[in-house]
Amino acid sequence: MLWRLFHSGRHIERYIHDDAWALVTGASDGIGKALVDELLGRGFNVLIHGRNAAKLERVKEEMLAKHPARQVALVVCDASQVSYGMIEDVVHQVGDRNLTCLVNNLGATERRILPFAKQQWADVEDTTNIGIRFVAQLTRALLPKLVAHQPSVLLNLGSSSQLVHAPFVPVYAATKGFLLTLSQCIDLEMRADGLDVEVLYLDVGEVNTTAHDVGESFIVVSSPSMGKAIVDAVGCGGVFVTPHWHHECVNSVLACLPRRLQDYFVTQSMMPRRLDLVDKKTQ
Ligand SMILES: NC(=O)c1ccc[n+]([C@@H]2O[C@H](COP(=O)([O-])OP(=O)(O)OC[C@H]3O[C@@H](n4cnc5c(N)ncnc54)[C@H](OP(=O)(O)O)[C@@H]3O)[C@@H](O)[C@H]2O)c1
Repeated sequence: MLWRLFHSGRHIERYIHDDAWALVTGASDGIGKALVDELLGRGFNVLIHGRNAAKLERVKEEMLAKHPARQVALVVCDASQVSYGMIEDVVHQVGDRNLTCLVNNLGATERRILPFAKQQWADVEDTTNIGIRFVAQLTRALLPKLVAHQPSVLLNLGSSSQLVHAPFVPVYAATKGFLLTLSQCIDLEMRADGLDVEVLYLDVGEVNTTAHDVGESFIVVSSPSMGKAIVDAVGCGGVFVTPHWHHECVNSVLACLPRRLQDYFVTQSMMPRRLDLVDKKTQ
């Protein structure tokens, strides 16, 4: 929390050099779209990734109307169908642009909330394809560009479900554990080789989005405020960071409780969202 006292939120500007581009995955809605808006506002051109070309085109028009001096380009592919050819195609679409910022925003947010014993093959397959295979292969393929265009930054969006070991979304939470370890290892590799590539794992709490439309509160923040908090956190000095101060307050309160009480509150908060229990009530 102390980093906030000494942080201007303008460290991101270090990575805006020579007609800089950012690539944001899962950018047609939610936090991804808010991040695109924020990055364009700070001075990046942005490649926006998603699976729905028409929706991406609408986001592009909206963003260019708001940021006429910037450039926006589309990258269209369905991350749940990850393949070698798909990743090579994304690299080709990035081309010789000066990529100085990669935002792995996309996560498996369409998961079904169920006990692991009740999950189907497709639940595990989609979640791991999006949350592990796509993010690992995309980062592997684009990291050489971040290295070539340093100083640069890699932003990986995590989830508090990883921090609290949220039940009923075990594979999703575990993909964020994977992403945290991946971030920490890449950060050490960059520093071992004296490369100026900043790596962050962003611990994100609840955010109100089109897909997760639960209303805003102190705990559930808006997408624009989350997007700003993420960009402001760049340069905070560590790999793991909780970018939004509201979420950091929640984490701090939970951390003061004995582990069994933490587990109780986390489990109780997930219970009403269990699909198997909701289904029984409506039968
Ligand atoms: N919202 C929260 O409360 C929350 C909490 C903690 C962490 N996070 C993390 O924050 C990140 C963003 O979450 P979000 O809530 O903003 O997500 P979201 O609202 O569900 O948006 C997901 C975006 O990804 C796109 N997308 C979904 N599946 C895709 C696929 N298979 N291939 C390509 N694009 C796909 C969607 O495109 P369409 O428009 O076509 O659907 C949309 O643009 C994720 O990593 C998530 O795990 C979110």
